[in-house]
Amino acid sequence: MAFMSGFTPYFIAVFCVLIVCFWIQLQREKKTKELKGESDSTSKAKPWVDQDLQDDTEIPSPNQGDEEEDDPGSEPDLPQVPYAPPRYAVDSMLERSRDFYTLLNQRRSVRFISPEPVPREVIDNVIRAAGTAPSGAHTEPWTFVVVSDPDTKHAIRTIVEEEEEVNYRQRMGDKWVRDLAKIRTTWVKEYLDVAPYLLLIFKQTYGIGTGGERKTHYYNEISVSISCGMLLAALQNVGLVTVTSTPLNCGPRLRVVLQRPTNEKLLMLLPIGYPSEDATVPDLKRKPLGDIMVHI
Ligand SMILES: Cc1cc2nc3c(=O)[nH]c(=O)nc-3n(C[C@H](O)[C@H](O)[C@H](O)COP(=O)(O)O)c2cc1C
Repeated sequence: MAFMSGFTPYFIAVFCVLIVCFWIQLQREKKTKELKGESDSTSKAKPWVDQDLQDDTEIPSPNQGDEEEDDPGSEPDLPQVPYAPPRYAVDSMLERSRDFYTLLNQRRSVRFISPEPVPREVIDNVIRAAGTAPSGAHTEPWTFVVVSDPDTKHAIRTIVEEEEEVNYRQRMGDKWVRDLAKIRTTWVKEYLDVAPYLLLIFKQTYGIGTGGERKTHYYNEISVSISCGMLLAALQNVGLVTVTSTPLNCGPRLRVVLQRPTNEKLLMLLPIGYPSEDATVPDLKRKPLGDIMVHI
């Protein structure tokens, strides 16, 4: 023991040197991250940015597994055809623009949805309207999954609520939860059982050609987002309501439940129906034109 105690000052010295080296290394790494514009602070993390897009769980589809690249030059040339949409007199244009604005200005995100049935054909037409959206190189990179089966709706609710509880408690951070407090959203989503339809909109990150080859889907997320906007307008046009939701971290599990292939990533989940009789919405105000438009 006496022999060991003779070494104690040396152990202490070595220990102190190690601590100092460790601290210097930590400071260097921190500095490097700052220079790269990264941050290890969770408050600065942005989990809503494309986290679900890292979904690579496998569900084989008939043509999947072929990793071949695009077949360039295989698209046939399209002939040009005449195009003459209706042209309106100026008065009529003004009236139509006002009416359309009035219609869309009445749209609200509604979280209280009635179980009352909605004609299936209306949903089909709303999706047809969404499918008229422009898309990068006319790739039409969208899949609209309509769910009315109660068991599947409940399976979706279970997944969304499980993940949302973790989102609210851990992933989102205090600021995000505080920002949401004014619209009183929580991880409990009763409407996922109640709404007659759930519409899950997937973006196809690439297509699969008839020969199994991959086709590039240019700007697929922008294309599908435009399509979703048109879908919201089409729903408003027939008096149905929804709440736009992008369930964080649920994409991979929902894709598996719905048996969609791996090139499809969940972009949006929309419960659709009539508003419930006692539905309420937060008393939000929209920015006036002057705050959103710059005319040069
Ligand atoms: C990309 C996106 C994601 C959204 N995610 C949610 C969500 O997860 N849950 C929710 O209750 N509302 C969600 N909303 C709805 C917004 O809270 C709502 O649009 C906003 O408060 C404005 O209200 P309004 O839609 O009634 O005009 C989302 C909206 C957008 C555009």
